[in-house]
Amino acid sequence: MADPQEVLSRRVQSALGAAFGPEYADTDPVIRPSQFADYQANAALALAKRLGRKPREVSAAIMEHLDVSDVCSAVEVSGPGFVNLTLRDDWISERTRALLDDERLGVPAQDRLVIPIDYSAPNVAKEMHVGHLRTTVVGDSLARTLEFLGHDVIRQNHIGDWGTPFGMLIEHLLEVGEDSPEAGLLTTDPNAFYQAARTKFDASGPEEDGFAARARRRVVALQGGDEETLRLWRGLVELSKVYFNKVYAKLGVTLTDDDLAGESTYNAMLAEVCDDLEAKGIAEISEGALCAFLEGFTGREDKPVPLIVRKSDGGYGYATTDLATIRHRVDDLKADRVLYVVGAPQAMHFKMVWAAARKAGWLPDSVEVTHVQIGNVLGSDGKILRTRSGAPVRLMALLDEAIERAAAVVRENRPDLPAEEQAAIARQVGIGAVKYADLSVAHDTEYTFDFDRMLALTGNTGPYLQYAQARIRSIFRKGGLSPERARADIAIGHEAERALALKLLEFGAVVAQVGDLLQPHRLSTYLFELAQSLTAFYEHCPVLSAATEAERESRLTLIALALRVLVQGLDLLGVEAPEHM
Ligand code: ARG
Repeated sequence: MADPQEVLSRRVQSALGAAFGPEYADTDPVIRPSQFADYQANAALALAKRLGRKPREVSAAIMEHLDVSDVCSAVEVSGPGFVNLTLRDDWISERTRALLDDERLGVPAQDRLVIPIDYSAPNVAKEMHVGHLRTTVVGDSLARTLEFLGHDVIRQNHIGDWGTPFGMLIEHLLEVGEDSPEAGLLTTDPNAFYQAARTKFDASGPEEDGFAARARRRVVALQGGDEETLRLWRGLVELSKVYFNKVYAKLGVTLTDDDLAGESTYNAMLAEVCDDLEAKGIAEISEGALCAFLEGFTGREDKPVPLIVRKSDGGYGYATTDLATIRHRVDDLKADRVLYVVGAPQAMHFKMVWAAARKAGWLPDSVEVTHVQIGNVLGSDGKILRTRSGAPVRLMALLDEAIERAAAVVRENRPDLPAEEQAAIARQVGIGAVKYADLSVAHDTEYTFDFDRMLALTGNTGPYLQYAQARIRSIFRKGGLSPERARADIAIGHEAERALALKLLEFGAVVAQVGDLLQPHRLSTYLFELAQSLTAFYEHCPVLSAATEAERESRLTLIALALRVLVQGLDLLGVEAPEHM
């Protein structure tokens, strides 16, 4: 085990057990980095109450039983009862050496769980908006992280590829022609296609052969499995897939066509879902619709809120599909843990679906389901991000603008690089900046989309972290050396060297925590702090011009390790690491 906080936690815990009895041996000793020592244990304050003793007495008892001589060079009680812990230099050296030899960089390989992750999930013939961008980016990072932790991640792209709008979309496709430029819009500007269909639909009168009437008949034909209608529908989905895949390729996310499991996949299960719910007495007919009334879900004046599984016209809805989906994930995919990376406004929907599924016995207690709530992305006006005309922002245009803006910066900073290389870096930096902006704040909070801030080379941004690793590469290039070959022992001389080494030792624990808590922003924060310790390190510790050969080798090894951690960490976020910047 590498993480100093974990090592110290264990030691303090056994001291607690020895001092106060085994029931205290699992108390969290709250180990934090400290400005007075490397770390500080804060257990005594919380325990004092529980034990009815003074904090100082508690920490004295901890001290008496604490056995850390192999790990710490100094242990002191400070303040009202903190225990300050200073690690031994040789312990840090030895642990960083072990990290250097560890392919996994201290990241534990956890017991393998099957984890379907529902993310991205855009809708056919509609623009992917910035909200979809965020679930795509956050979901992809969780998929990468959980996979790296050893889990069997099953990506599930629950695209919206079914429902009543398809009647009008199919009729429109038929009118413009399947191979027409208008149909081609689906692959470049799907909203334009949707809007054209919508406009026709709204403008057409009630007449038998009018567009609206035909669209309605088309829905019936689609649901009835009419072959020609299904063929047209498949065409629509195919064209939309082209668009999704363009966005995914530009973003560099891991989703492929194999991960598509759209709403339509579950059509054949919906009737049975309804019948089963009715047979189990979970759903009943209310005002013509089949509804489940679940305990704890009430609206105004305590009126029960129904989960509608079959509308009065016989149609199924979003909830019915999600009930079928959870059955599939539990029964067929054999999920241990299911994640839904979806916008926060859908929280109630998932709560109700899961409650119904639990009641029906489809979702056993042993399977954990989590809604990883995605907060809104706002424009500078504090409202949901839109273009000036009020239309939803075209995701592709947004990404292109990020790349363009990054290109301007790269041209200015690196005029020496050939144009192609500048363009490649601009793509990595522009996309990295957008993705990192999504990942550096808690996934459930709102944030303001701001190109200038996300592309800044200072502060907690993608480009800052990309620069931190590019700078290490450039030191090696300058010295005519390769980072892979730096394998000296790491000596802990300067304070800044020690701080950097300790940060590196924390990596594995942070990644494990991201997997447990499903919070990629913790990894971002960690990487940002790591980059800051690097900056402080350079300030005090010259590398290529170090005083002695041994010091130079040691420092080169330390930053080579930092490079690996930065690149690995960025990769878990889905952010690329340019060679030059
Ligand atoms: N397509 C939906 C939307 O755009 C998201 C689907 C999320 N996943 C799910 N299983 N309901 O809002």
